[in-house]
Amino acid sequence: MRKTAYDVAVIGATGTVGREIVAVMVERGFPLGRLRLFATRASLGQQIEGTDAGIEELDSEADLSGNDLVFLACPPEVAQPWGKRAVAAGAWVIDTSVAPGEAETGSLVVPEVNAPALAKAKESRWVASPHPIAVGLAVVLHALRQLAPLTRVVATALEPASLLGRAGVEVLEEEVRTLLRAAEPEPSDLFPQRVAFNVCPIAGGLTCSAPGLAAENQAVRHLRSVLDAPDLPIQLNRVLVPVFFGLAITVDVVLQASVDSVALAEHLRSAPGLLLVESSQRATEPALLVPTPATVVGSDATHVACLSLDPRVPAVDLWVALDNTRKGSATNAVQIAELLVRDHL
Ligand SMILES: NC(=O)c1ccc[n+]([C@@H]2O[C@H](COP(=O)([O-])OP(=O)(O)OC[C@H]3O[C@@H](n4cnc5c(N)ncnc54)[C@H](OP(=O)(O)O)[C@@H]3O)[C@@H](O)[C@H]2O)c1
Repeated sequence: MRKTAYDVAVIGATGTVGREIVAVMVERGFPLGRLRLFATRASLGQQIEGTDAGIEELDSEADLSGNDLVFLACPPEVAQPWGKRAVAAGAWVIDTSVAPGEAETGSLVVPEVNAPALAKAKESRWVASPHPIAVGLAVVLHALRQLAPLTRVVATALEPASLLGRAGVEVLEEEVRTLLRAAEPEPSDLFPQRVAFNVCPIAGGLTCSAPGLAAENQAVRHLRSVLDAPDLPIQLNRVLVPVFFGLAITVDVVLQASVDSVALAEHLRSAPGLLLVESSQRATEPALLVPTPATVVGSDATHVACLSLDPRVPAVDLWVALDNTRKGSATNAVQIAELLVRDHL
């Protein structure tokens, strides 16, 4: 008989993504049975909004048995061994840790784009939520390719400090405070250069890699995997910007055939997971403002605006913005959980 409630654990529940996973499950009415929250000893006693469940320490004694689903929202080196233990204890794992290696051999899923790929994970019971840039671009490109096949994609992602979690947010905060006191911040080992009041290319054609951000091709690999387009030419530039939360991406897509602007807007208006903002920079209604990191925080949609068609080549330019901690990771992970409940648990 089908269960009516599912026992879930979140590893990394006190982090940027883990907290959102709990919030999104509650908001979307996920059929939660028992909820267990794991973090380090330092977080014991913390309360997570939306639940009365306490934090448990993830030490070598931690017992993961009895869970239907385990979300991994912790560093990859923690996610890998504990994910394996969770699977061995009978759970399905949903991995947001964007770790190279194992996560990429499992199924990378963006529900609006490649939900059937979940079936491939039946044996491993390990599903990964792709890199947040890949999640946002996959939703947009999947909608576009329903109008005309894609020839080439050039994108520049403007990345917030929170892509490196709480530590990234803390570095930016500290740098801002220091600079406002007219002092020079200490260099951090998290980012290649100062983040506050600065803009720094970190990967892509604007090449220069940085420790911790060096997964320069990972977002592209994830995107090709989700789109099932292994040979699609994709140029992804990544630029670190002095923003706490929210990811913005400029996208230029060459198509194999021209599309009509009215048909394009109509199609994007009804594409799953997309919110087309037919906006004006001077709009007084918040919903009509061009979407930016500041306006999309807390939203589960991938926002698209500033559509422009190049009549000389069949190409579309657009502006994309999404919350990296919501659709970029937590919301996508909870949507995967909803599909597992519907089809596999
Ligand atoms: N931030 C994003 O936008 C984003 C988007 C997509 C994917 N991701 C990925 O999601 C994962 C989590 O990222 P985040 O941004 O949420 O990081 P975060 O804010 O730094 O949070 C990390 C979480 O992992 C826990 N943790 C760390 N070491 C642990 C250990 N040894 N044992 C148990 N728990 C441990 C932390 O617990 P304590 O609080 O006790 O330290 C915290 O709950 C990372 O793999 C990241 O690459 C992040």
